[in-house]
Amino acid sequence: MNIRQFLDAKVAAALLAAGAPEGSAGMVRPSARANFGDYQANGVMPVAKRQGINPRELATKVLTSLEVELADVVDKLEVAGPGFINIFLRPEWVAKQLEEAYTTDRAGVTPASQPQTVVVDLSAPNVAKEMHVGHLRSTVIGDAVSRTLEFLGHKVIRANHIGDWGTQFGMLIAHLEELQKENPEVMESELGDLEQFYRESKTHYDNNPDFAARARNYVVKLQGGDEWCLGMWRKLVDVTMEQNQRTYHRLNVNISQEDTMGESMYNDMLPGIVADLKEKKLAVEDDGAMVVFLDEFKGKEGDAMGVIIQKRDGGFLYTTTDIACAKYRYETLGADRVLYYIDARQAQHLQHAWTIVRKAGYVPESVPLEHHAFGVMLGKDGKPFKTRSGGTVKLSDLLDEALTRAAALIAEKNPDMTEEQRAEVANAVAIGAVKYADLSKNRTTDYVFDWDNMLSFEGNTAPYLQYAVTRIRSIFRKAGAEMTQVQGALLISEPAERALATKLVQFNEVVDNVAREGCPHLLCTYLYELAGAFMSFYEACPVNKDGVEAEVRQSRLKLCALVARELELGLGLLGIDTVEQM
Ligand code: ARG
Repeated sequence: MNIRQFLDAKVAAALLAAGAPEGSAGMVRPSARANFGDYQANGVMPVAKRQGINPRELATKVLTSLEVELADVVDKLEVAGPGFINIFLRPEWVAKQLEEAYTTDRAGVTPASQPQTVVVDLSAPNVAKEMHVGHLRSTVIGDAVSRTLEFLGHKVIRANHIGDWGTQFGMLIAHLEELQKENPEVMESELGDLEQFYRESKTHYDNNPDFAARARNYVVKLQGGDEWCLGMWRKLVDVTMEQNQRTYHRLNVNISQEDTMGESMYNDMLPGIVADLKEKKLAVEDDGAMVVFLDEFKGKEGDAMGVIIQKRDGGFLYTTTDIACAKYRYETLGADRVLYYIDARQAQHLQHAWTIVRKAGYVPESVPLEHHAFGVMLGKDGKPFKTRSGGTVKLSDLLDEALTRAAALIAEKNPDMTEEQRAEVANAVAIGAVKYADLSKNRTTDYVFDWDNMLSFEGNTAPYLQYAVTRIRSIFRKAGAEMTQVQGALLISEPAERALATKLVQFNEVVDNVAREGCPHLLCTYLYELAGAFMSFYEACPVNKDGVEAEVRQSRLKLCALVARELELGLGLLGIDTVEQM
C-alpha cells in the first residue's frame, strides 16, 4: 500500500464514523501547494452534498476522529475552503518510512497486492519495411510501462503485433524471387535496405503487368499454404525482425524474438470468427461481403456503421485480425488487462474491433482493453517529422545522429575522460535523451522533436537526471562512503531536507500511478521534481563541508543515497542507463 492509499483508507474510515454511507471515498491527493499541506482529502464535499449537510461541519467531525487515528503520522490537520482537509505529515514519520525504504533495494515500492496477467501490445513494426520514428513511441512507451508492471509483480506478456500479413506479400515475394535469380545470397545484401526493396517491388508491380499477375497469384498461393511461398514469406519476416532486433538492442528495450505475435498468428482463427459472428447474428452478408453493423457508430447518412470483416473475395481484414487477437489474449494468454500502445489514428479501428469483441462475448467487460494512443512526432517547424528530402526518418539513422551529437557534447564537457569512458557515457546520454524526450511528454499530444532540448543538461531531460546521479556518486566518493552502507538515523530538520524527504516517500505511489494509467510521463515528472528538490537541498544543506556534524552528515548522506536509488530505479523502469561520471 502506498501512502496515498494509506491516508485514503484512514479518511474513508473517518467519514464512515462520521455517518457517511458505506463506501464513501477519502479522495486523498497530493497537495498542489506546500501551504495546503502534503496531501489533501476531497472526500467530504460530495458526501455532505448528498446528505444535505454543511460540508465544513462534516469536515470538522472527520478531522476530530482523524486526529486520533493519525496521531503519529501527522503534524497538523486543518479544514480548508468549502470542506477540504489538509494533511501535514510529521517529519519523524516520513523519516521512519524512508528508513524502511533504505533497507530494501526497492526504494519502498511495495509489490501489487493482486498481481495480474497484463498483455502489452507494443512496437509492432511492419515486415519488409524499416522501423521509423512512429514506431519509436510505441516501442519505448510500451517497454517502460511493461517494466513498471513487472517491477510491481505483474506477469507481463509483451505482444509485438507486427504487420506480417496482407496482399503486399505477393509483390514482395515476386520481387525477392527475381532478385534471387540474379543472386542467391540476396537476403543478406540487397535486403539490407528494406525501404528500397519495398519501393522497388511497388514500382515493379505498378509498371509491369506480368509481374503484377504473378504477384497476385502468389497472394492466393500464400493464403492457401503453398510451401514455397511460405518459405519466401518467412525469409522476409526473419530478415526484417533480425534488423529490428538490432534496433531494440540499441534502444535498450526488452523485446525479444519470442515476443513476436504478428498478424499472421491469427490467420487460422479468422474463418471460425466470421462463422461464429454470423451464427450470433452479428455479421450479415452485404453485397457479397460479411459485415457487422454497429449502431454505436454512425455512417455518413446517420445509419449504423458497417464494419467489413470479410471481403467479397474471401480475404480478411486488419479488423478481423484484431478481433481474433483480443479473443486470443483473453482466452489463451489469460489476460486480466490488455494495453495497446498504438498511434491515435487507429482509435476508430480499435473501437470497431472491440465493440464487436464485447458483443460477441469474446472478452468480458471485466477485462479492460485500453487504447493508449499517442500523437505523431513533429519537426521543429510543427510539421510531421521528416528527413530533409521529405522521407520518413529511419530509426537507425535517428539513433546514429543522437550518438554523434552526444559524443561531441561529452567530449567538450569531459576532456579528461578516456576514449572508452566517453563512448559509454555518450551512448547512455544519446539513447537516454531520445527515449526520455518521448517518455516525458503526455502521450496523447503530438510532440516536437528537438535535438537541443533533449540533449540539454538543464530542464526535464535524461542528461539532467543522469547528471544528478553522477553528482550523488561524487558526493559519496568525496565522503569515502558506500551508498548502501550509511550508518546513523535520518534527522529531518531543515526545510530543504523536509521538502526532499516528503518528495522521496511519494515514489511508491507514482510507480503505482504509472502502472494504473499506463503513462510513464508521470514518472518522468516525478524524477524531475525529485532531482530539483535534491539540487535545492544540496545547495542549502552541505554534506562534506568542514563543520558539518557527524550525525548530520550521515543523515544527509542517507538522503542522498535514497535520491540516487530512486533516480536509478526510476530511470531503469524507463529503460535508461546511468553512468559513474559525466
Ligand atoms: N503494424 C501496425 C502499424 O504499423 C500497428 C499494429 C498495432 N497493433 C494492433 N493490435 N493492431 O501501424
